Amino acid sequence: MDIRQAAQIEAARKIIEDIVGDKGLNLLINNEGAMRRLGFPEITEEDLLFHFSTNTVGPVMVLKTMLPLLQRAADRKSGGMNASRAAALNISSMAGSIEQLTEQTPKEFLESMGYRTSKTALNMAMRVVALTIKEKGILVVNMCPGWVKTDIGSERGQLEVTESISSVLKTLAQLDESHHGTFLDRNGKTIPF
Ligand SMILES: NC(=O)c1ccc[n+]([C@@H]2O[C@H](COP(=O)([O-])OP(=O)(O)OC[C@H]3O[C@@H](n4cnc5c(N)ncnc54)[C@H](OP(=O)(O)O)[C@@H]3O)[C@@H](O)[C@H]2O)c1
Repeated sequence: MDIRQAAQIEAARKIIEDIVGDKGLNLLINNEGAMRRLGFPEITEEDLLFHFSTNTVGPVMVLKTMLPLLQRAADRKSGGMNASRAAALNISSMAGSIEQLTEQTPKEFLESMGYRTSKTALNMAMRVVALTIKEKGILVVNMCPGWVKTDIGSERGQLEVTESISSVLKTLAQLDESHHGTFLDRNGKTIPF
């Protein structure tokens, strides 16, 4: 689906609901993301809105649409929050950390202005969601997968896809309510917002 299209998200929800039925959906991974390189002052309104709709609005709308299915899974178990009960893992990026952007950051990294801004907004949006639905038993976490050799990470990435994914999944399995609404690296270490 194109996560900028509400009808396509809804169609995906129906397909998932047919598969999971009464058990509900216990894990949503909002992995999708897009990055174009454009810095200031070349930045355009279109570029900023593209990143915001793709990297911030889309994941929020996906989570909103899948929430009843996640809730169904969460209601089948009691106790604390964890990924085997119900969880939304949002793949964010260290590039969205305001605190980690310093004068030492290489100038070329400033060129992904729209991407950075949209990931910062994603972190805030999902923190708001996490605090809002705290009592529902659905764990909500933002995680950076590291610098990975993909289209977004380029061949300069420091990690192979398999290395990144295996550590993300290992960490995900260890998360509990103490991680609700946080921003973590792939090994579970807190990243400053
Ligand atoms: N690679 C890194 O170093 C790195 C670092 C930090 C965070 N991340 C995050 O990791 C996640 C995965 O990215 P990646 O590194 O695997 O990059 P990637 O290879 O470019 O994958 C991005 C994926 O998002 C999909 N996508 C883009 N726009 C979409 C839309 N509007 N609707 C639905 N799907 C869409 C792409 O689908 P199509 O192929 O069909 O376009 C592609 O499958 C992203 O959230 C990214 O921000 C990556």
